[in-house]
Amino acid sequence: MDFNASGKLFDFERGFSAYFDKETGLSPEVETGKRYLSQMQGMFLDTQAQDDLLKDGDKLVYEFHSMPAPEHAGDLAFGCSIVYPGKVGQEYYMTKGHFHTILDTGEVYYCLSGHGYMMMESPEGDWEAIELTPGKACYVPKRYAHRSVCVGKPSDGPLVTFFTFRADAGHDYGTIETKGFRKLLIEQDGKPTIIDNPKWKDA
Ligand code: NI
Repeated sequence: MDFNASGKLFDFERGFSAYFDKETGLSPEVETGKRYLSQMQGMFLDTQAQDDLLKDGDKLVYEFHSMPAPEHAGDLAFGCSIVYPGKVGQEYYMTKGHFHTILDTGEVYYCLSGHGYMMMESPEGDWEAIELTPGKACYVPKRYAHRSVCVGKPSDGPLVTFFTFRADAGHDYGTIETKGFRKLLIEQDGKPTIIDNPKWKDA
């Protein structure tokens, strides 16, 4: 049990605890935002495959916790990102990805379960793809956009990562929605493979 704690969830003044399941990433206490395939139009390379998948119903691609952390440089937001196994054509399920609005903000991800990659790239075009397996931490440097990609089979379960970053950093999704990432992770010959994004726009 906790001693001398206020017992209040999200008590960013006195401290608090919350439970996140290591296999599913889900929390009995903290709600997730959910992103469905229909909300990611134009983000996958094979739009025809995406349309075909949507014909037999929408698919949950990923979930994430967003804590009501005070938007203050000294506070930390945290939670889990949960990306489900699946593909659109040859491209693995992934998060939309984002820059931080305060670009000079790093972030730490710690992989709890599943198999995936953290795709990262700077506005100048430097990029990294860091493999995520349980027990591995990934440092996303300041200025880098980042996206989680689940390369596991359904039997591997979702890619679950715990993240934390400064609470006032904000999220810029629009840049990636407009331009895309320069590099994509697709399955080729049964293996995760990096390709140039033919749809990437330098504008
Ligand atoms: Ni971030």
